[in-house]
Amino acid sequence: MTLNIGWIGCGRHARQMLLPRLPDHDIRLAALCDRDGAAMAATARAYGVTDCYADFGDLLRHPGLDAIGMAVGPEIHRVAAIAALERGLPVFMEKPPAATAAGARDVAAAAQKARKPVIVGFMKRYSSGNRIAMNLLRNGDFGPILGITGSYLTAPTYFEGEPDYTGFYLHHCIHYMDLIPWFASSEFGDLSVRKVSPAPGRLLLHLGFTTKAGAIGNIVMGTVQSRGTPMEEVRIMGDHKRIEVDNIVNVELHRDPPFKADNPAATLDDTVDTLTWQPNFTAAANEDHKGYSGLVADASAVLRGDNREMPTIEDGVLAMERLERMIRLVEA
Ligand SMILES: NC(=O)c1ccc[n+]([C@@H]2O[C@H](COP(=O)([O-])OP(=O)(O)OC[C@H]3O[C@@H](n4cnc5c(N)ncnc54)[C@H](O)[C@@H]3O)[C@@H](O)[C@H]2O)c1
Repeated sequence: MTLNIGWIGCGRHARQMLLPRLPDHDIRLAALCDRDGAAMAATARAYGVTDCYADFGDLLRHPGLDAIGMAVGPEIHRVAAIAALERGLPVFMEKPPAATAAGARDVAAAAQKARKPVIVGFMKRYSSGNRIAMNLLRNGDFGPILGITGSYLTAPTYFEGEPDYTGFYLHHCIHYMDLIPWFASSEFGDLSVRKVSPAPGRLLLHLGFTTKAGAIGNIVMGTVQSRGTPMEEVRIMGDHKRIEVDNIVNVELHRDPPFKADNPAATLDDTVDTLTWQPNFTAAANEDHKGYSGLVADASAVLRGDNREMPTIEDGVLAMERLERMIRLVEA
């Protein structure tokens, strides 16, 4: 059954990463909204959409919509999601779910009242490497997680000379405020922050944390690396087990192999030696390792009323609460 979606926000992210994936899942862009007429007209041409609105309130009144999608920005995510829910429509929204944790809680309350799902676009959970890592943690014999180290960096591009890091926190740090506790399957316990800032707009943070389940870890985030380099790595430590995910696609599972040097018969043993995985970028297959495709696939099912384990507004609330806790420590 075709899902008719009304979409708010025809900016860079929607046009490049999200909208191209909708037709794969029989989602039809039934109506568009953007206050930027040129961006909306270009998107309408690309997808053959004839019903376009500058005001999201008008979009929500468009007849025949099954769901609302949006990639706009924090405050509009909050107000447009609540307005959509009040009309009984399920919502897919990009992160962040709101500008504040209180705002995200308002969206969650509206979702509960409407009994409709709100999906939040934490696509890092769907990146090929991260998904493999999580499946290894859940399905294998990894044992308890002892430690997690994560690194998520970006460039000063958007923050040059700008001492206000609100955008960095809301648009970037929010990802690891979801991803790392998701890997840990546990809430943060203690949290501490160290920072260095060589110039306005340039910030490097080291977060130290414990989890309620008893693990320790740290998260490195900052605006001091080039976007032309790999930006992310995750290390998950167990007892004689270690999962490493570099650049979201290179996965290694280290276990407990014997030394090789003194064994003339040394070989590779698939029960103890390191397992690795990398994608084949030369295959003529339309694979999306960043995770948008998997996210949209699950969103398509949930917006149709099916169940999937996927990031919801409740996860959005938790991520925003962790983020605000972190910001209070950074700014203390
Ligand atoms: N998950 C990811 O990897 C990822 C990557 C990039 C952006 N994002 C998220 O997507 C969202 C959009 O980011 P972007 O880079 O596309 O930004 P953008 O500025 O390119 O696009 C936002 C669009 O929303 C429109 N808009 C703003 N206010 C509006 C309003 N009141 N009514 C109607 N339209 C309005 C703007 O005109 C613009 O076209 C952000 O929340 C961002 O965090 C997520």
